[in-house]
Amino acid sequence: MTVELNPAELPQFPMARASGCPFDPPPILRDKQEQGPLAKVRLWNDTTAWLVTRYAEQRALLADPRVSADVTRPGYPAPVGVVPGGSPISFILMDDPEHARLRRMVTAPFAVRRIEAMRPAVQKIVDDLIEEMLAGPNPVDLVEAFALPVPSLVICELLGVPYTDHEFFQDNSKTVIKRGAPPEERGAALGKLHAYLDDLMGRKLEHGGDDLLSGLAERVKAGELSRAESAQMGVLLLIAGHETTANMIALGTLALLEHPGQLDLLRHADDPKQVARAVEELLRYLHITHNGRRRVALEDIEIAGEVIRAGDGLIIAGDIGNRDPEAFPDPYRLDIEREARHHVAFGFGVHQCLGQSLARMELQVVYSTLYRRIPTLRAAADLDQIPFKHDGSVYGVYELPVTW
Ligand code: HEM
Repeated sequence: MTVELNPAELPQFPMARASGCPFDPPPILRDKQEQGPLAKVRLWNDTTAWLVTRYAEQRALLADPRVSADVTRPGYPAPVGVVPGGSPISFILMDDPEHARLRRMVTAPFAVRRIEAMRPAVQKIVDDLIEEMLAGPNPVDLVEAFALPVPSLVICELLGVPYTDHEFFQDNSKTVIKRGAPPEERGAALGKLHAYLDDLMGRKLEHGGDDLLSGLAERVKAGELSRAESAQMGVLLLIAGHETTANMIALGTLALLEHPGQLDLLRHADDPKQVARAVEELLRYLHITHNGRRRVALEDIEIAGEVIRAGDGLIIAGDIGNRDPEAFPDPYRLDIEREARHHVAFGFGVHQCLGQSLARMELQVVYSTLYRRIPTLRAAADLDQIPFKHDGSVYGVYELPVTW
């Protein structure tokens, strides 16, 4: 029997992080997980949705074709107010077959082999930025000097976006993913990014090169893709390509500085497999896309003794899924030697992160270089002085003052 719940009495999602450990999901998520895999929660607009907290149910639902990622469907639990006139950010918010049609057009440049070929270039970017940092002021903000430029330079190179425009796209991306920003402001930022990418696509259509956007321009010429779709894809790849990885670099560094034993292990890791394992564990432990995978049920779905009705919203909270003791023993402990590759930090199912090989490779290069090259690296502010991104769609730190 389903009991009708009064939305006002339900806990509201997202739930505040406690003043305790800034790397842990809010304690109420842990309570909910202990009580069962599914719970009802209230959203910012007083609608209700199912909160899915356990790893097994999360993966089952993310892989279920009866579950939709289409933001335009009634019941979709939008994390914030809908952007007026805003278009969905390409295929991440679409279902198959449209999703698959568009995603297929950009899978080849993200294949493991192609990404591995970029490793020496990424290593050079990392080495050069560290040299610049060492030659510059001390202390310095690690986000500005290192964490943001690494993935921005890499994604610009891959897409064929001029890095000289980085301030423009970094500022606007920041606004698009800022939950606290008014919808009009986010809409304006999205509009500016779309206009910028559309203009760039115009140039690629005239003089293509060997970058990803030029590849899309060829598809536009062949009539396989519209120019607007290509610009939308460019916006998605540009935002996803630098915001997430930048947060993993800065937050990962802070987490390691707070766990000196783990940092020491990583600093002395000689085997690339040890570094790769550490990257997976930090992805699991930090799970930066902390607002949950948002979905809506297309049909009634029976799961874990409950019936999710067609039209019900779902919030699949990967941060707590990655702390499920059934999937990861002693899950609240950061242990860079554990096997954590089965985490859900990149999602699961058809929308699983397209850029995961790139993100992994960038993080492996960063984590195996930064702490060796600057062995005395430490935070230049107390933990409670560091501004965390509680109000963003991606968790991290706005600034990380460091010294050496
Ligand atoms: C550490 C860094 C990263 C993390 C934690 C991350 C996380 C995620 C997650 C959780 C999803 C699933 C979204 C969903 O199911 O609703 C996703 C999708 C996606 N990510 Fe990443 N990502 C990272 C880096 C990147 C990079 C470097 C790119 C490169 C462009 C990228 C591009 C994408 C795209 C295009 C999708 C949509 C896939 C689809 O809908 O089929 N991501 N990412």
